[in-house]
Order: sequence, then structure tokens, then C-alpha cells
Amino acid sequence: MSDDHAIVAENVSKAFLLHHNRVSSLKGRFVGLFRDRWRQRQETFEALHDVSFRVRRGSAFALMGPNGSGKSTLMQLIAGIMEPTGGRITTRGRVAPLIELGVGFNPELTGEENIYLNASLYGFSNKETRRRFKDIVEFSELGHFIDTPVKNYSSGMYMRLGFSVAINLDPEILLADEVLAVGDADFQEKCYKSIQTLQKRGMTLVLVSHSFQLVRQFCDDYVQLKGGRVVEAGSLDELADSTDGSVPASPPAFQPKASSHAKQNAG
Ligand SMILES: Nc1ncnc2c1ncn2[C@@H]1O[C@H](COP(=O)(O)OP(=O)(O)OP(=O)(O)O)[C@@H](O)[C@H]1O
Ligand SMILES: [Mg+2]
Repeated sequence: MSDDHAIVAENVSKAFLLHHNRVSSLKGRFVGLFRDRWRQRQETFEALHDVSFRVRRGSAFALMGPNGSGKSTLMQLIAGIMEPTGGRITTRGRVAPLIELGVGFNPELTGEENIYLNASLYGFSNKETRRRFKDIVEFSELGHFIDTPVKNYSSGMYMRLGFSVAINLDPEILLADEVLAVGDADFQEKCYKSIQTLQKRGMTLVLVSHSFQLVRQFCDDYVQLKGGRVVEAGSLDELADSTDGSVPASPPAFQPKASSHAKQNAG
């Protein structure tokens, strides 16, 4: 892996084992011990097939594709939450995975306790976390609920806490898988602004979104997945040039004025 790249995926495949339950009764299961016809069937399902790409350090990369095309699976592989069944995925730098609501949180613990838990998963000591604690809570605007167990949080509150922890722990690679969409308009705008600030400092971004406007505003390069395979890849500028060349209108929660420097900086 060269110094220029934050993420390199080489011929990555991921297969899952699917169980098809033909019988649910106790009798059926017993009979299944002797008769093939009654048995549970298993099937391997390849969610990703021979996927390769490189993400330059400090750039912003978009993963696009329809539902079920393998985007979140790929994000989990990049985050190291799962191992690929084939190929290799290499990352350089501290990865902050904002890929599923509440990942890394313990529902029984309070917001405050979860901040410490999460920070320790990123490799921070309690002392370092204490130093950043105030900023994390302030950004999340959850001060009033920080002593409440997070199982009683709304989805937006979960996301606020996860995002605030992630951006305050100096991530070198931020993986954002649509979780931001559960935030209200004001908070989303705040998130995008702080992502841009981090990008200016050299952070690499991988963004999954169904919004082409958002992808276009933030990202330099993209891959398009379909059925677990890469069907298209390239630069978003070229993609826009090859369509009608126009910059799409910004999503309502976001000001286009502030959006351009993410791309300018990343090149
Ligand atoms: N743990 C698992 N076990 C079995 N199949 C899985 C597992 N995780 C994902 N899959 C399957 O892999 C495929 C890709 O799922 P994935 O969540 O990566 O899609 P996605 O592109 O993120 O879709 P969406 O746009 O809906 O979020 C789906 O068919 C899904 O059912
Ligand atoms: Mg997904």
C-alpha cells in the first residue's frame, strides 16, 4: 500500500450463509434428522464479488448503488467489523465508523458512560476523553440527557452522540453510511460543516448516500455497486460532465456556498 492511499480494496468478496427454514415444528426437526426433504437448507450468498478500488488520502469517496447492492457490507469490511471471505482490504489511519445507529454503544449505559466506552474503542485513554468530553456533549446538544441510558434515546439522539464522539476523536478516515439522514435539518447542516472542517485538515471521507446532490457536493471519486459488483467507477467531475455538466441543486439542509471547498481541498 502506497503512502498516497488511505484505503485499498483488492478483489474483495464477502459471502454469507443463508439458512432456509423449511420446518419450524419440533416434530419436523426430529424427522429432519432422518429425512433430507425435511431438513433446513443452507445456501451461500455472495454480497460482494471481486470488488477493487483505491481511496486517495484526504479525498472523499462515494459508494453508490441500489438497496441491497452491498454498500453497508463494504463499509463494515473497511471498518474491520467483518473480515472479507476473499481478497484484501487495507486501511491507513484511525477509522471512525458511523455506519449503523448505536454501533459501539451499550444500550444500558448512559450517554456519558457510552462516550467513555466509545472513546476507549478508538484507543483513547480516560484522561484524554475527559479533556474532550465537554466538546463532545456541547456538539451533540444532549447535555440534558447525558445521564440517561441510551436505550431511551431517539434515533436522532443516537446519531448525535455517535457523530459527536467520532468527530471529536480526530478520525483520519470517516465512514458515513446514511446515518446522518436521521438528524434534523439544523443538526445535519452542522454535521456537514464539521465534516468539511475535518476534510480541510486532511481527513479521508467515505460516504454512502442515495442523494446524488450530496455525493456530488462532497466527493471526488465514486464506485457504483450493483448486485455486489462494481458496475461503474471514476471521478464525479467526469460523471457530471458526461451527463449535463450542471451542478445539481443542493439538498434543503445544506448551503451550496459552503460546500465547494471540500472538493477543492481534496484534489
Ligand atoms: N449478516 C448478513 N447475513 C446475510 N446476508 C446479509 C448480511 N448482511 C448483509 N446481507 C445481504 O447482503 C446484501 C447487501 O446488503 P447491504 O446491507 O450491504 O446493502 P446496501 O447496499 O447497504 O443496501 P441499502 O441501500 O438498503 O442500505 C443484501 O442482500 C443483504 O441481505
Ligand atoms: Mg446500507
